[in-house]
Amino acid sequence: MPAHEIKVRTAGGPYGVLVEPGALARLAAELSNGGLKAAATPSRPEPVAQRPLFVITDSNVWKHWGRAFDAAVSPLRYGLIKIRPGEERKKLETVERISERLVALGADRGTLLIAFGGGVVGDIGGFVASVYLRGVDYVQAPTTLLAQIDSSVGGKTGVNLPCGKNLVGSFYQPKRVIADPRVFRTLPQRELRAGLYEAIKCGVLRRSLFVFIEERREALLRKDPEALAELVRGCVGLKAWVVTRDEREGGLRRILNLGHTVGHALESETGYRRFLHGEAVAWGLRAATLLAEDRGMIRPAEAARIHALVKAMGPLPPLPRISAARLASRLLADKKTRGGAVHFVLPEAIGKVRIVTGIEPRSVARVLERLRHG
Ligand SMILES: NC(=O)c1ccc[n+]([C@@H]2O[C@H](COP(=O)([O-])OP(=O)(O)OC[C@H]3O[C@@H](n4cnc5c(N)ncnc54)[C@H](O)[C@@H]3O)[C@@H](O)[C@H]2O)c1
Repeated sequence: MPAHEIKVRTAGGPYGVLVEPGALARLAAELSNGGLKAAATPSRPEPVAQRPLFVITDSNVWKHWGRAFDAAVSPLRYGLIKIRPGEERKKLETVERISERLVALGADRGTLLIAFGGGVVGDIGGFVASVYLRGVDYVQAPTTLLAQIDSSVGGKTGVNLPCGKNLVGSFYQPKRVIADPRVFRTLPQRELRAGLYEAIKCGVLRRSLFVFIEERREALLRKDPEALAELVRGCVGLKAWVVTRDEREGGLRRILNLGHTVGHALESETGYRRFLHGEAVAWGLRAATLLAEDRGMIRPAEAARIHALVKAMGPLPPLPRISAARLASRLLADKKTRGGAVHFVLPEAIGKVRIVTGIEPRSVARVLERLRHG
């Protein structure tokens, strides 16, 4: 296994996550390397070169990176399926259209799909892979920071319904993840920062990561590929550790929801238009930190470091005014709510969290009001 490959072990099989500047340029070799020779049907083990290969991407990513991808995957031949960018595409209709294209292009059970794009492409591509012909192999080639540190690893796939986000999906692990931080060169700065907020969340779960982000903040914000590669490896290492122990979010995996309980409520309250996901998580993380402070769970100096690092990444879209009653209904509508009990992951220190239930929506609304007024 190459030095920078992180192993994820799940019931769906083990796989490697390669994080390396320049990995995209070696795609053909990496696809042949990563244990991908065994086809979905064991009766037809084939080398990658003989498997039908299809790439699912969005038009934005393809505009920037299509030519590089094409050169990198040569001499392998592939079918291209492009969707329009944006969360609005993450719906069942897109799954149907991609599946019909796959049929038309002759994709069979030995097919290998590559999801080349951000979290939207990854979630749709993984879901299509899990249901097309009852399941074909797929590889994640994530191109946003959020997708590299989070969504491409762990096997959660799915699409939105008109009534809510990620309500239809599956746990379906990729055969490999190939992440090249050089692709961030074309990523809008706001998308980069959204990924950095998710990385800070990882840092609150693992102290060494937090310290790394504090120390290398400037290099990260100016897209230094080596600094970003180290950050992605750290976050993926944490996620791999968690997912290997709890693939289906029975317990431990819930710690990854730090900042997400309030974050999801803010996203739905603003119709998914005001915040990028990572930005809503940033406010959620600060709210969780204040809730912990109010309960005397965390030392003020530790809490101050969390607030300061979030702020140091740049401006966030302002918080909406939200009443306790509205917040309560948003929190209860979250699919992670179990039996009417809302779980909050609160920091006890940088590197240590606890899951707490029984926090009144009133207290959460008060905390958000304090944050709204700075
Ligand atoms: N499966 C999981 O575990 C998981 C975890 C977190 C988030 N998600 C999902 O991820 C999605 C968000 O993902 P995202 O933030 O990557 O958004 P995204 O996929 O919409 O990408 C953001 C934008 O950046 C563009 N883009 C992507 N890579 C680029 C590049 N290298 N250069 C220039 N532009 C580029 C895209 O075209 C898009 O316009 C949400 O749907 C969320 O639900 C899933």
